[in-house]
Amino acid sequence: MAVKISPDYIDLLNKAVEREIQVSLQYILQHAKMEKLVRRTIPENILLDKTTYDAVGKFLREISIQEMKHAAAIMERIYYLGGQATTKSGKVIVGDSISEFSKLDVKAEEEALVLYRQIIDTSGKMGDWETRELFEKIYGEEEGHLFKFQEYTKFQDEKDTPSKVPLPEWRKIYTDDYLTLLNKAVSAEITTIVQYTNQHEKAAFLELRMKNTPLEAILETNKAGVVSKILKDVFMQEMDHLEKISERIYLLEGEATAKPDPLPVVGNTPQEFLVLDHALESSAISLYRQIIAEALKRGDTTTRRMFEDIIVQEENHFWTFDDFVR
Ligand SMILES: [Fe+2]
Ligand SMILES: [Fe+2]
Ligand SMILES: [Fe+2]
Ligand SMILES: [Fe+2]
Repeated sequence: MAVKISPDYIDLLNKAVEREIQVSLQYILQHAKMEKLVRRTIPENILLDKTTYDAVGKFLREISIQEMKHAAAIMERIYYLGGQATTKSGKVIVGDSISEFSKLDVKAEEEALVLYRQIIDTSGKMGDWETRELFEKIYGEEEGHLFKFQEYTKFQDEKDTPSKVPLPEWRKIYTDDYLTLLNKAVSAEITTIVQYTNQHEKAAFLELRMKNTPLEAILETNKAGVVSKILKDVFMQEMDHLEKISERIYLLEGEATAKPDPLPVVGNTPQEFLVLDHALESSAISLYRQIIAEALKRGDTTTRRMFEDIIVQEENHFWTFDDFVR
């Protein structure tokens, strides 16, 4: 007899998804903040050299991607069990120094270990061996993260001393409303990352199911499989966009948001995914055009050029999805 899956069990697994999305975003934003930290005069910088910043920045990025892969693997499992994987994220807290990052990250990893022990225990009792095995593997990796972050918690927590130098004239173009506009781009990128990851797993699952119905296999070819692969490739580019835009915001002394906007929507069929993604890329293109125009007006060349590069890729995403939408 197959394992009986309750809604509570799916909820429990979705809690793990929320955690994974949260830490993935938390670490990538911390990674993006690194460049700004290096340039500041905080006591920590006397103890740490550039190499340390580079090393921490590098593994934060690597771990962030690994966490999103955990999220994807758990989503995949949820779809196989007949549930709906969430697109929600736990609360992201970034912090302001390497020691703060590591303390927050140690806490996040410890919470994950507690939750995953509970999941391993529950799935074992139910006889859901696949889930147990998945979480045992993830558990080992989270432990590795925990140890990594623990190495960096020993630095003293010192508050940033506010700069006494008045803001130079050329920096006055970076007003709050401008940073708010740039943060809309961060939100848009987060939405694509979460939405495409979830859809990628759901499409992979639908593809598997389609093979059971010969007629569909003939008529629909392997649409779900193709969609699934496209989404994975696009995901990596969106991750790169998120990283670049949030790094820019930190350098301009702003705080990057961790909230998706619009909220991710998954859809039910590969066709629906594509229609939703097509619309998402469309609205990103409009927003980025607006940002380019605003950056041009203010003379913020770096931001303008960055968005000009990003918009080329968004247009490619749009046309890729467009090929399938008709
Ligand atoms: Fe993880
Ligand atoms: Fe982790
Ligand atoms: Fe993007
Ligand atoms: Fe895109």
